[in-house]
Amino acid sequence: MFETTIPKTQDCAQVTDFIELKDNIDNVITHFMNEYKNHQQSIEVDFRKLVSWVPYGDSYTHFIHSYPAKLLKHIPIFFLNSKKIMPNPEGTVLDPFCGSGTVLLESVIAGYKSIGCDANPLARLIANVKTTPLNADILKETLITILIQAKRVKKYRTRNVTNIDHWFSEQVKNDLSKIHTAIQKIENIEVRNFYEICFSNIVKKVSFADPNLSVPVKINPLKYSDPLLYKKAFTELESKKNISVFDKFKKQSLENIKRIEKLNNLKTSGNAQIVGRDARSITKCLDNDKSQWLSDSIDLIITSPPYAGAQKYIRASSLSLGWLNYCENNSLRDYEKQNIGREHYYKNEYQVKNNTGLKEIDNELEWIWEINPLRAHININYLVELRSSVKEMYRVLKDGSHCIIVIGNNMVCGKVFDTKKYLKIIAEDAGFETIFILRDKIHSRGLMTKRNKTANVINTESIMVFKK
Ligand SMILES: C[S@@+](CC[C@H](N)C(=O)[O-])C[C@H]1O[C@@H](n2cnc3c(N)ncnc32)[C@H](O)[C@@H]1O
Repeated sequence: MFETTIPKTQDCAQVTDFIELKDNIDNVITHFMNEYKNHQQSIEVDFRKLVSWVPYGDSYTHFIHSYPAKLLKHIPIFFLNSKKIMPNPEGTVLDPFCGSGTVLLESVIAGYKSIGCDANPLARLIANVKTTPLNADILKETLITILIQAKRVKKYRTRNVTNIDHWFSEQVKNDLSKIHTAIQKIENIEVRNFYEICFSNIVKKVSFADPNLSVPVKINPLKYSDPLLYKKAFTELESKKNISVFDKFKKQSLENIKRIEKLNNLKTSGNAQIVGRDARSITKCLDNDKSQWLSDSIDLIITSPPYAGAQKYIRASSLSLGWLNYCENNSLRDYEKQNIGREHYYKNEYQVKNNTGLKEIDNELEWIWEINPLRAHININYLVELRSSVKEMYRVLKDGSHCIIVIGNNMVCGKVFDTKKYLKIIAEDAGFETIFILRDKIHSRGLMTKRNKTANVINTESIMVFKK
């Protein structure tokens, strides 16, 4: 039967008194390995303390664009600074669920080659811009050109944003269209991508969407019975009607140019490349050439896959995807279908029972089918697709190399869905050896509000270290 009890803190070894020095990381890793070998339990850590020399908050280009459930940068920094985990200074790091590129950027900073994949085109664009140094003078000149040209634009087409008038006032819609028309005229593709990102990061801020929520939900003053809160929401909604889109865009662009300047100053031989769209089949490049990435070629994988049913990456990016023309040939639904952990299925899809093919998991999850077949389908399909991506990670990784997966548990029908346990079974079935498992508190990962309201186990995430 499915385990309903929530693991207590005593189940974890405590690691609190390490000397927090960069040179000490390999000793700390050896300690984790021994501790896990002896007790087979997760070890409780605080990554911000383990790499206490790393400041919290923005650095380099990390904050160039918002993205839901970003990885705490301290996690890759810790592992990238370990010779035990990454012995090859010329090696390549892979993040098959790269999102906005936290792992890729930290790999570049540490001097490694890095490659990434993501199903969300906005994530791929952010990760690309985040890791591409650009001449700041050219960026500044281009900004002036965009602002002048945008003001002169007479003919423009508003973009394919679902329900556009629900989200934007007439004036905001027109100003966004003019700025985007001017951006599209930039010939240098890297500079154009940079401005697409600056533009995209203001789209939600100038819309009627509630800024406190990751997915777009229109501000609704009527939901507040408290007159002060009602007034605050009402004023905010009104202010969005005439907000200065040009000022917002200029401010965002200047802030991002400063971030790119920091990236330019970095003396590193590292670089990043976005090679694929699907973690289940990693390709050599994003072009039409669909040939697979070479087997046994990657030196380290650090990744945080989506959570089952908890993250709505495409919905959270929907306004940007529309404005950036990603919805001309594909619908949001088409993008969502590629997403591991998605929640939308047609009835005929979940009428037939699916299974992971791993008895230990399938037997344990049998109960969900009886309570809620849709939830059962969502979670089991999630594990099936996660399994495909773990097999792919195993394929591309060199023998003896490490794969670090950051994952959290979830709630299904009121019970804990022990993703960590299932992932361990899946990884070991694929051929991986479990080296150690750490447990850290989830700090701020957006879109996690539902889970944060639940028990302690949901507020933590597991950092699982496997070896091929
Ligand atoms: C937890 S987020 C990664 C966040 C990232 N570490 C960061 O710091 O921004 C998981 C990512 O997996 C992506 N994803 C979902 N299904 C995928 C698939 N089949 N292949 C590749 N990426 C996928 C989502 O688009 C999302 O960006």
